[in-house]
Formats: sequence, structure tokens, C-alpha cells
Amino acid sequence: MGSLSPALCLCLLGLASMAMASPPRRPLDVPFQTNYVPTWAGDHIKYINGGMEVQLSLDKYSGTGFQSKGSYLFGHFSMQIKLVPGDSAGTVTAFYLSSQNSEHDEIDFEFLGNRSGQPYIVQTNVFTGGKGDREQRIYLWFDPTKDYHSYSVLWNMYQIVFFVDDVPIRVFKNSRDLGVRFPFNQPMKIYSSLWNADDWATRGGLEKTDWSKAPFVASYRSFHVDGCEASAAAAFCATQGKRWWDQRDFQDLDGLQYRRLAWVRRQYTIYNYCSDRSRYPAMSPECRRDRDA
Ligand SMILES: *[C@@H]1O[C@H](CO)[C@@H](O)[C@H](O)[C@H]1NC(C)=O
Repeated sequence: MGSLSPALCLCLLGLASMAMASPPRRPLDVPFQTNYVPTWAGDHIKYINGGMEVQLSLDKYSGTGFQSKGSYLFGHFSMQIKLVPGDSAGTVTAFYLSSQNSEHDEIDFEFLGNRSGQPYIVQTNVFTGGKGDREQRIYLWFDPTKDYHSYSVLWNMYQIVFFVDDVPIRVFKNSRDLGVRFPFNQPMKIYSSLWNADDWATRGGLEKTDWSKAPFVASYRSFHVDGCEASAAAAFCATQGKRWWDQRDFQDLDGLQYRRLAWVRRQYTIYNYCSDRSRYPAMSPECRRDRDA
């Protein structure tokens, strides 16, 4: 579903590779407290090695979550996560950016757990002005419970890129010229949480959380935040051309990144709202651009 024809891929890859781009800056490992605070059920968060590593746990009574201290307009946000191992069916671990108002913008990674040995699903979504309905779902090319992997978001005026390690798994281009809203003026905080969602998460809600396996534990480290911290002078963040993420290298993916994205679409994509004609008879305008990407 949603995969490109090889011919289309090749010609577009050719075009794309003329643009020179680079991966985002290498994330720094900083302790949790530098950038984050618990949001709820702080007693379900365990700090290891002075907060260089934290573990979130979910039991029958509660899940837990944390959020960034600051709000940001644009930047590069990443986290290394080792997802709940073993039988994680029914659990959802999320890492997302969101503004705090009713017509909110949001950039989401959600990791849907599964029975032991069955694959996690990574669901991504983008909300603009309160409107979401832009789900994409992929399987990963590794076991995300064995080791830490980095999950990150690059956000500037030109594009939002979702990365898993160095692989871009999704690009949401600024399509304001096509009448699609793009997050640019509502500062976002970064959030993460672990909770029970066995009403929908695993095989559409068929697989229930097995509480005899609790507590379910997800581990985190790195906590890298490199964004424009929005203050009263939020307009400052929108000043183009000053920050590294505004530079030409980050305005589009490069040839290698497009090839990797095409590989994810071909091999690992299980759902893409852009090709769901039964739910969306009219394709969203940004899909044309994202498909061509
Ligand atoms: C869980 O495993 C089943 C069986 O392999 C698969 O169909 C499903 O997509 C997997 N992931 C989730 C989150 O349901």
C-alpha cells in the first residue's frame, strides 16, 4: 500500500540528489532534568545515573509521562528510546510535540506494542490547526526493544522530517501554497508518555494488555533539544536564515535520504492516509507533494 512505482522513484531520486543536504546535527546526551519535567504520576519514573537515563513504567494503576520545560518554534528534537520488551500488547509509548491550545499543532510518534515476538507498529501523525487524520504506519527494520534507537523530529519553515536513527521515515512539506496549514506560529512543547490503550492499539484492540506481565517499562536517554525557545518575542524564532535548521541543507532531503525514505515506503509501510481512498475519497493536497517527495 502506498508504495511508489520504481520508475517514478528513480526519476525523482535523480532530481532530488541534485540538492545537497546533510543530516541534522549530532544530538548531545544531556540528563533528563536539563530539558524535562514529569507531567503526571512522577512516582512511575525512575532516574538512573543522575538522570542520564530514565525508565517509565505502566501498571494497572497508572501510566506516566513527561514534558519539556520550554516551548519551541522550530528545531531538532530527539530522544533515544528502548521500548517495552516482551509482551507489550495494549501499551502505547508516545513521543510528540504539541502546542497547548484548541486549534493545536502536533507532530507525533506513537509506538504500538505487541505480543512477544510480534512487531511493533510506529504510527506518525501531523495535526495543523486542530486537524489531524494524517496517520502513517510502519514496521521497523529492527527490534526496538533490544537496544536504544534514536527517534527525532526536524522542524523548520520548509518541512517536518521524522527520523528513526538516520533514516527519514516521513516528510511533511510546507504546502501552504496548496492551501494546507503548516505549523509555524504556535510554540510546541515536547512530550512523552507510556499508557494503556488496549481499546485500539494492538490489532485494532483485539489484543488486551496482560496485567500479569506488569510493570511495563520503557527506557529513555539522550534528551536532546536544539530549538528556538519561544518567549514573549516568539516572532524572533520565525526570523529565517539565522539558525542552522533554516539553512539550505535542511530545506529538503538529499538524494540518500530520499532513497532511504523510498525504501521505508516500499518495504515497511503498512498504512498511509494518502492512499486510503475509502476513508478519504479526495486525496489531501499535501499528499501529491509528499508522494512526489
Ligand atoms: C502485532 O502483530 C500482529 C501479528 O503479527 C500484526 O498483524 C500487527 O500489525 C502487529 N502490531 C500491532 C500494533 O497490532
